[in-house]
Amino acid sequence: MAKLLYISANPKGPEKSKGMQIGEAFLQSFTDEQPEIEITKIDLFQFDMVRMDADLISARGKLAGYGMTFEELTEQERAKISKMHGLVDEFIQYDYFVFVSPLWNLGSPAVLKTFLDNLFVSGKTFVHTANGPKGLLSGKTAIHIQTRGGMYTGLPMAELESGDRYLKIALRFLGIQVLDPVIAEGLDAFPKKVPEIVEDAKVRATAAAKDMARKSVFI
Ligand SMILES: Cc1cc2nc3c(=O)[nH]c(=O)nc-3n(C[C@H](O)[C@H](O)[C@H](O)COP(=O)(O)O)c2cc1C
Repeated sequence: MAKLLYISANPKGPEKSKGMQIGEAFLQSFTDEQPEIEITKIDLFQFDMVRMDADLISARGKLAGYGMTFEELTEQERAKISKMHGLVDEFIQYDYFVFVSPLWNLGSPAVLKTFLDNLFVSGKTFVHTANGPKGLLSGKTAIHIQTRGGMYTGLPMAELESGDRYLKIALRFLGIQVLDPVIAEGLDAFPKKVPEIVEDAKVRATAAAKDMARKSVFI
């Protein structure tokens, strides 16, 4: 059975977050297309994950750089790197990923960056080859649903947007196919238009979900 991981990064929660409401429309449409899909939701503001601190950096260096064994790490290093690897082992069980996040200060909320930091594990999600790094998560598909207060389509604003852009780069680096995002923008710049903007994004999210589900190789 195919599995979908829905990853939200918004402390407002589904009641107040417009992005998460658009995300629900996506999930509904996906489920209509693939009723057997198994969906797991993660709220990154509640999710227990390790941050890239001195222990983790040291552990990574010892294992990858110095070829030391797991047993040679300190107790704290072992605990933290085990947690990181546990998250990755769970992540790679999924076939589809739906990321839902707002644009904050030109990028994504820090919890999303922390989550992505956890996924970069050499040997599990990517490898270094003679031709450069190679992602190992081929056959998986992701999409980003992003909300923005302002307008970033068109120059010069488009160049400033670093949330969707980084997510796309990071996931593609790991070998994941990333579909075109569903963006709802101008939500703070045009308060009277919010219902219209959200509705339009829901229509696009519904279509994107059908597309993603139909391209499936699992059904
Ligand atoms: C801390 C913070 C920083 C923000 N920075 C930006 C920004 O750089 N660009 C922008 O267009 N909107 C910015 N916004 C507005 C949010 O993107 C917008 O309100 C949000 O995406 C609306 O969607 P939501 O209801 O799903 O949270 C920011 C909002 C907050 C709380």
